[in-house]
Amino acid sequence: MIPRLHARSCQLWWASTSAADEHLLDLLDEDERRRHSGFLRAADRARFLVAHALTRIVAAHHVAIAPRAVRYAAKLEAHEKPRFGDTASELQFSISHSGACIVVAISRAVPLGVDVECVDATAPEASLVASVLCATEQQAFTAMPSAARPWGFCRYWTRKEAVLKATGDGLAIAPLRIAVTAPERAPALVGWSGAGRPSTSVHLYDLDAPSGYAASLATLAEQLECTAHDGGALLAA
Ligand SMILES: CC(C)(COP(=O)(O)OP(=O)(O)OC[C@H]1O[C@@H](n2cnc3c(N)ncnc32)[C@H](O)[C@@H]1OP(=O)(O)O)[C@@H](O)C(=O)NCCC(=O)NCCS
Repeated sequence: MIPRLHARSCQLWWASTSAADEHLLDLLDEDERRRHSGFLRAADRARFLVAHALTRIVAAHHVAIAPRAVRYAAKLEAHEKPRFGDTASELQFSISHSGACIVVAISRAVPLGVDVECVDATAPEASLVASVLCATEQQAFTAMPSAARPWGFCRYWTRKEAVLKATGDGLAIAPLRIAVTAPERAPALVGWSGAGRPSTSVHLYDLDAPSGYAASLATLAEQLECTAHDGGALLAA
């Protein structure tokens, strides 16, 4: 069920919180189980469980070890980019979850970041727009038909967050500081103000997310061929 991961490819594994079966907890390590049990809301526990079980199953397959044998390079912290250690350290991966949707992106060695967001029914507050979009982006955004703005804002957001997750900065760098192309245009990073710009090329991709979601991927240094896979079926098996 898990195709070979080639050097120039990125696999995107999609799943839903409906796959969150308690037996998957057996795959997680102590640190992951501690984080899982620390979430107050069942929905947060489900997203975490599905994302981490799926990540382990796919990564383990690609380095021919058991899912429970996958080790992280350091203790998992909520706002730090997780990395594999030991035998899986050659792999790069990124996790994102929103609403009922989970996506895990994995490559052989190319750093990447993935982001999925549930598209709101209403347009974002002006204060949020001003804190995420730079001046040029705000102009393009306000020129969009109002019905397209919830999707448009999400598209800006997922492109920016994918880049910031690929670099590992996350929201420690304000999304306002990076500029991406307008939602209806081909995805690309077009500006970065201040320190922290990656020294390598940044490649952006919009993904085919489930209905009601927007998702983007960023890879550093190399452009990859992306393939989509059914993580729900994998977890059920
Ligand atoms: C990365 C970040 C943007 C995630 O945002 P989000 O939209 O809420 O969540 P997503 O579902 O898309 O991604 C979460 C996953 O990203 C990964 N992640 C966390 N921090 C990351 C970082 N700095 N870079 C790359 N990936 C990161 C984790 O795998 C996490 O999933 P997990 O907690 O289940 O392991 C956010 O955690 C962040 O910016 N952190 C750094 C800034 C910071 O310290 N903020 C503190 C505010 S309280």
